[in-house]
Amino acid sequence: MSAEINTDPNRVIIFDTTLRDGEQSPGCSMNLEEKLRVAKTLEGMGVDVIEAGFPIASPGDFEAVNAVAKVVKDSIVCGLARSGKMDIDSAAEALKPAERKRIHTFISTSPLHMEKKLQMTPEEVHQAVIDSVTRARGYVEDVEWSPEDGTRTDHDFLCKCVESAIKAGASTINIPDTVGYTMPNEFAELIRMVRERVPNSDKAVFSVHCHNDLGLAVANSLAAVDAGARQVECTINGIGERAGNASLEEVVMALRTRHDIMPYSSAIVTEDITKVSRLVSGVTGFNVQPNKAIVGANAFAHEAGIHQDGVLKDVRTYEIMTPESVGLTTNKLVLGKHSGRHAFNEKLKELGYEIGDNARQDAFRRFKALADLKKDVFDEDIVALVDDEVLHSDDRIQMVSLEIHCGTVHNPPKASLTLSVDGAEKSCDGFGDGPVDAAFNCIKELFPHNTRLQLYQVSAVTQGTDAQAEVTVRLEEDGKTVNGQGTDTDTMVASVKAYVHALNKLLVKREKTAPAALSA
Ligand code: KIV
Ligand code: ZN
Repeated sequence: MSAEINTDPNRVIIFDTTLRDGEQSPGCSMNLEEKLRVAKTLEGMGVDVIEAGFPIASPGDFEAVNAVAKVVKDSIVCGLARSGKMDIDSAAEALKPAERKRIHTFISTSPLHMEKKLQMTPEEVHQAVIDSVTRARGYVEDVEWSPEDGTRTDHDFLCKCVESAIKAGASTINIPDTVGYTMPNEFAELIRMVRERVPNSDKAVFSVHCHNDLGLAVANSLAAVDAGARQVECTINGIGERAGNASLEEVVMALRTRHDIMPYSSAIVTEDITKVSRLVSGVTGFNVQPNKAIVGANAFAHEAGIHQDGVLKDVRTYEIMTPESVGLTTNKLVLGKHSGRHAFNEKLKELGYEIGDNARQDAFRRFKALADLKKDVFDEDIVALVDDEVLHSDDRIQMVSLEIHCGTVHNPPKASLTLSVDGAEKSCDGFGDGPVDAAFNCIKELFPHNTRLQLYQVSAVTQGTDAQAEVTVRLEEDGKTVNGQGTDTDTMVASVKAYVHALNKLLVKREKTAPAALSA
């Protein structure tokens, strides 16, 4: 399969591991519905390979890989497996429905990992490489093999394992910089060395998987491409274990922007980058830092007078790529109070939404209400509004009404809240240190539960005091975390929606693990 993609020698395969390595970072968990939305968006933007999860890791991971395998048609769907038989069998089973599938199997090869983590001799590891790739090839044609901690592996041993993996049938060899230790020159040299020394290296596509512990994941990946790697493993917004993985948007835009000195290309529709970045930060609750390259809020902002002056004269003075090339349409006025149903439906189509009639009617009704409250309605507002509708439509607990009293006088902040729980309305008044605390206390009274609030985060969808607030709430119960989102022009309403959304997700999680624990 990878050979099929790679008929153009300068084509770089984009392997996205947001749903696997990205999801491995603490607090970053996504539920099945969210994983499917991310997978479909990645497919739509032209990602070649989607690593959908690690099927043996948990029933939830198995289910997610299986569900992604059912719906994704254009991208190759990949499942991760250690070298053991059960891992590989589980990955093969989860991937069964996929039209295009890959098993990615790995084992540590550095002296430190072999001795301390695996407690295996190099000979045993070498045999496991052959056995695991052979077993995986018994299920699928497309097998990728990775030597974990590859950049700290003895070169002779690395070459021996790579040669055996290719002989056993691996068509992609991925060299991971598992601990983000290498440097661009050193990594490029390593890739060149392996490709030159391994006699059958021309039978495989070489791939790289870089972690960002020293902030070099993207630089290392690009250096490896220059040295002959033709697959880059990366994640949206660079999320991932510890300091994260190489960021997809940075790799892709570097290739596009510096085509003059790096004549390689990817199939990514770069105009979708902003949309997918927002989707991933929304569902994970991991905000993008404002100065993050490509997708940070300030990435295309020109504050300094001297810069603004230059940009007004000719944008190329300070812009090396256009905001439009990454799909940034910020502050583009789209619709107003007087826009009709037809214009709204056209806008939904333009933004890539395919939603049913009922959801569309509801979204239109909410758009009208928003346009009454907010002078200018931007693309971002429509996206937030429709996502909010989709996110909350199946919730068992829904917010019906909220009233807040707060201020600087002596009365403590008070919230009066009505929730609908399984269709029955319940109301209460609650007090707290502040309005958010009072409202959240009300939720706990109306639906008693024992969770820890790990994150409460507010951001604005657009600019201005009438902007919609986008709130993320992360709740933790028995070591499991869920993220909830809520959007509204009223920050307090958005906060309650986000909390209630997280609570609903927790109920679904509980339902899956222990049906008896369903009632609060
Ligand atoms: O970082 C790493 O080494 C990995 C492997 C499983 C490829 O994620
Ligand atoms: Zn990794």
